Amino acid sequence: MRSFEYYTPTKVIFGKDTHLKTGALLKEKNYKKVLIHYGGNSAVSSGLLDEIKSSLEDAGVSYITLGGVVPNPRLSKVREGIELCRKENVDFLLAVGGGSVIDSCKAIGYGVANPWTDVWNFFLKTETPKACLPIGTVLTIAASGSEMSNSCVITNEDGWLKRGSVKSDLCRPVFAILNPRLTYTLPQYQTESGCVDILMHTMERYFVNIETMEITDSISEALMQTVIYNARILMKDPGNYNARAEVMWAGSLSHNGLTGCGTAGGDWACHQLEHELGGLYDVAHGAGLAALWGSWARYVYKENPERFAQFATNLFDVPWSADIEKTALAGIEAMEEFFRSVEMPTNLRELGLNLSDEQIHELAFRCSFEDTRTIGVFKQLNMKDMEKIYLAAR
Ligand code: NZQ
Ligand code: ZN
Repeated sequence: MRSFEYYTPTKVIFGKDTHLKTGALLKEKNYKKVLIHYGGNSAVSSGLLDEIKSSLEDAGVSYITLGGVVPNPRLSKVREGIELCRKENVDFLLAVGGGSVIDSCKAIGYGVANPWTDVWNFFLKTETPKACLPIGTVLTIAASGSEMSNSCVITNEDGWLKRGSVKSDLCRPVFAILNPRLTYTLPQYQTESGCVDILMHTMERYFVNIETMEITDSISEALMQTVIYNARILMKDPGNYNARAEVMWAGSLSHNGLTGCGTAGGDWACHQLEHELGGLYDVAHGAGLAALWGSWARYVYKENPERFAQFATNLFDVPWSADIEKTALAGIEAMEEFFRSVEMPTNLRELGLNLSDEQIHELAFRCSFEDTRTIGVFKQLNMKDMEKIYLAAR
């Protein structure tokens, strides 16, 4: 078990109609000018955006709006937001949407608060941000955990590079408004893709090769079981409030650091492998993770089959046997079976990608930063390893 720091400064306001408190919350903090940032059409057509605007107007908080954030959010929109905020003297960023909108806000916040450098440098990790504008979120999809996380992922259209920022507490939102009802309008594919992402934020921290804490393992296993159970319910009953609520809270807890206490940060290889798919092929993040995970797991499990066997037994009731590797493999198969049961892909073809050898090589080349880095800690992976995993997932 490793020593750790745990810092989670985000105020969470959870439950029905909580989004109506947005204006009052902003008024309380005395923010002068808010940018309401949102995505495509969903927040407009559901009426949510109008409700948020009314809430701010009722509280006497002035605002401007900027929509048009797309999934795998783009650097060009971030630059547009930075310019707008400077011109309008914005002092608070309100994300109304999912991970893409929140991350776009975080990047805008970095850009505005660090005029001494170009914002993309924080994603190239050649510079470290010194400040960030404060951010609040009204979450509309349970998935990324960005509403409480210290990271931000942006795609630069120049080269279609999808990169995570330097991790920093500066970008952790001040508040997160979590109303499970706001997720009712999600297409099933996005709901289930979100569930996979939540699971993966826990699994990335769970699959490490060091001695972990029992309490962290137990929290992680309970969280994963809850998500699996409720993801199945939502396939049949998308308007089930309790299932939406369980998944939404799990999403925040899975990525605010709680499930990483004592695990020295986690593995994150699958996320790195997936970001190349998101950048180049614009796939939904959770679905991309589902398509890769089984191939990653089979490639690495021999490093510590006991860990995978614990996962199999505690999550899926696979009977413990003397043949640890058999138990480990049964757990991997059970997770893939879960992915299939919620119509998530378990390979790249099912994700809609038919990739040539050259395209697979290109993915590994980019993920390894042109063969200059390794990823993962459960098993450290070089470019050749990455290529083998992408190939196995084809
Ligand atoms: O743009 P609109 O019209 O709003 O549609 C969105 C979008 O098409 C739709 N949607 C969202 N809420 C909805 C809704 N449709 C109907 N009803 C609603 N209530 O869903 C689609 C996906 O939205 P997006 O924000 O992209 O989803 P998600 O929350 O999964 O975010 C994915 C992004 O977050 C990044 C991912 O890489 C990806 O770019 N991540 C961010 C992390 C972080 N900052 O900590 C960690 C994660 O690992 C992840 O990498
Ligand atoms: Zn993720």
